[in-house]
Amino acid sequence: MSVKPVKINLSVVLLPAIILMMSACTKSYIRMPDEGVVIKDSTLTIDSVHFSADIKPIFSANCTSCHFAGGDNPGLESENVYSNLITGNYINISDPENSDLFIKGDGTPGHADSYLTSYEHAKIITWIQQGALDN
Ligand code: HEC
Repeated sequence: MSVKPVKINLSVVLLPAIILMMSACTKSYIRMPDEGVVIKDSTLTIDSVHFSADIKPIFSANCTSCHFAGGDNPGLESENVYSNLITGNYINISDPENSDLFIKGDGTPGHADSYLTSYEHAKIITWIQQGALDN
């Protein structure tokens, strides 16, 4: 009677283990794509928003590569962004969501949101609700 050597195919054991480890690793780095949707979540509260500290940096980080002075309208460069938004009528204080900043000429949601996270959008909306001050 001969004893058959038991062969363990290592790849059968290791492969699922490696896949498991890899998925465990990558999971912690996955950042969900943000769809630029307004946060309707009532648990989110944004207290006071200041134009210079909170809003200008959003435009600088997301918009001024195209909307620089002399570039696409509206100019969102930090020196003139406030007056450009106000004189260009891009802000609708009585109906912030329908500000031209977010709405295209034909009334559909504009392209600005594709460059903003929902949190950034909510901050801008809050700033408008608080009177769109140059604060
Ligand atoms: C890659 C270049 C680019 C970036 C980045 C960009 N825009 Fe624009 N934007 C344009 C161009 C080009 C136009 C004018 C043409 C058009 O879309 O009709 C425009 C038009 C606009 C308008 C006019 C209304 C409309 O929707 O057409 C607004 C308001 C606006 N952008 C806001 C923003 C804001 C706010 C950001 C950042 C959150 C931003 N844009 C980022 C290129 C850009």
